[in-house]
Amino acid sequence: MKGLPSSYPCPLGVKFVSQKPWSGVFDAQTDPRVEKFSESVSFDARLYAQDVAGSIAHAQMLGSTGVLEAAEVEQIVAGLTAIREEIAAGTFVFRQELEDVHMNIERALIERIGDVGRKLHTGRSRNDQVSTDFRLWIRDAIDHTDGLLAAVQRAFVSRCGRDEGVIVPGYTHMQRAQPVLANHYWLAYTEKFQRDRQRLADCRRRVNQLPLGTAALAGTTVPIDRHRVAAELGFEGLVANSLDSSSDRDFAIEFAFALTLVAEHLSTLAEEWILWSTVEFRFLRLPQAYCTGSSIMPQKINPDVLELIRGKTARVVGNLQALLVLVKGLPLAYNRDLQEDKERVFDSADTVQACLELAAGIVAGAELNREAIAERLEAGYLDATTLMEHLIAKGVPQRTAHEIIGKLVGSAMKQGKSLAELPVAEFTAAHAALDESVYEVLGCERAIAAFVSEGSTAPARVAEQVAAWRGRLGMD
Ligand code: ARG
Repeated sequence: MKGLPSSYPCPLGVKFVSQKPWSGVFDAQTDPRVEKFSESVSFDARLYAQDVAGSIAHAQMLGSTGVLEAAEVEQIVAGLTAIREEIAAGTFVFRQELEDVHMNIERALIERIGDVGRKLHTGRSRNDQVSTDFRLWIRDAIDHTDGLLAAVQRAFVSRCGRDEGVIVPGYTHMQRAQPVLANHYWLAYTEKFQRDRQRLADCRRRVNQLPLGTAALAGTTVPIDRHRVAAELGFEGLVANSLDSSSDRDFAIEFAFALTLVAEHLSTLAEEWILWSTVEFRFLRLPQAYCTGSSIMPQKINPDVLELIRGKTARVVGNLQALLVLVKGLPLAYNRDLQEDKERVFDSADTVQACLELAAGIVAGAELNREAIAERLEAGYLDATTLMEHLIAKGVPQRTAHEIIGKLVGSAMKQGKSLAELPVAEFTAAHAALDESVYEVLGCERAIAAFVSEGSTAPARVAEQVAAWRGRLGMD
């Protein structure tokens, strides 16, 4: 941030009553350390476009209710538009002593258009202004995040074409459990990210309520038209209670929470794929563009991006925690503590968006190591549960069937064989109903084919789901 001394001369020769907008009642200057301590412009300058949009809508509304004359509105709008362009071009000088983005822009307006600029803040406060700006920013961030989530979903669903028919071990407790289609895995993540999108969409409805016009905490005596401002800025409704509006940041916390779950889902994926890409697993080859090497061990191709995605989840969780603690016990209405909200939310949004962008590339670029997976697929008795269900289908109670198959697995383990490698006599000896038909469900391929339930890894079910997702994500 470029700073200027407090004695910065006003280029248009406008006389300031004083440097600070509030200094009427003050006899003493602000301690420079206080300015440094309390400023937020170093981070809330990010809200400049939202601040200008909110101010333009406010000025136009004041014109419509007769508080401002049409010519005054015109001057304010032109001035604000020019300031927005200057900021976008990087030529605007933000001043720390003007504290935040709101006062920096307002002061620049006054310097530019003179006394008319001093009318802009009529009927509003920085308390409703900052909440408006922040909601507008979060609304955009939600839409951007939603697009990135959809891209990750599409990367997964695209894999389904490539990985059709591939069977991988499914795990519980990180122990081999039952076979599943690789596509079933990909759709599992697609579902998780869909709920993240739904959470963001739901959060967006509460974010998208206009606080402007609730002023400092009690509203205003100035004739304003909040509905007009809401319509202009695309808000779905008005925050109904001015005290609530001034004191509230739950919209931001909800957003941070929704982002935290995205990060958690990405972290699960990262952890899984880090394991899957090890020599021990050899399930997956990660795209080298998303790996880095070692400065000492020449052979290393490390999954650093996935590790960082997993690691960055910590800061996203930390941000949520900080926000929750921030609002704990705050009395109504606005308190300056709330200024601490923005960096946490910005950081969570930046972090999760960066993770999503890279995740989409990794998901699209990784290759399943089909041979290595197939080589060891029959290890671990992934078909035991299917065999048990086969016995249940013959009328044996589940608990009994579980015991019988458990004993068969124990015996196969001792012999170093898979279930399919046991002779039929051994099955029949375990239970009379276990005849030649056992081989119809043994081996991962047959076990997979035996599944039927909705939501299961049954090939027909998974194919239905793939088709449904292709449709939902506009991939046909
Ligand atoms: N920079 C402040 C914030 O982010 C803006 C509102 C300040 N209001 C006040 N009365 N000091 O919360």
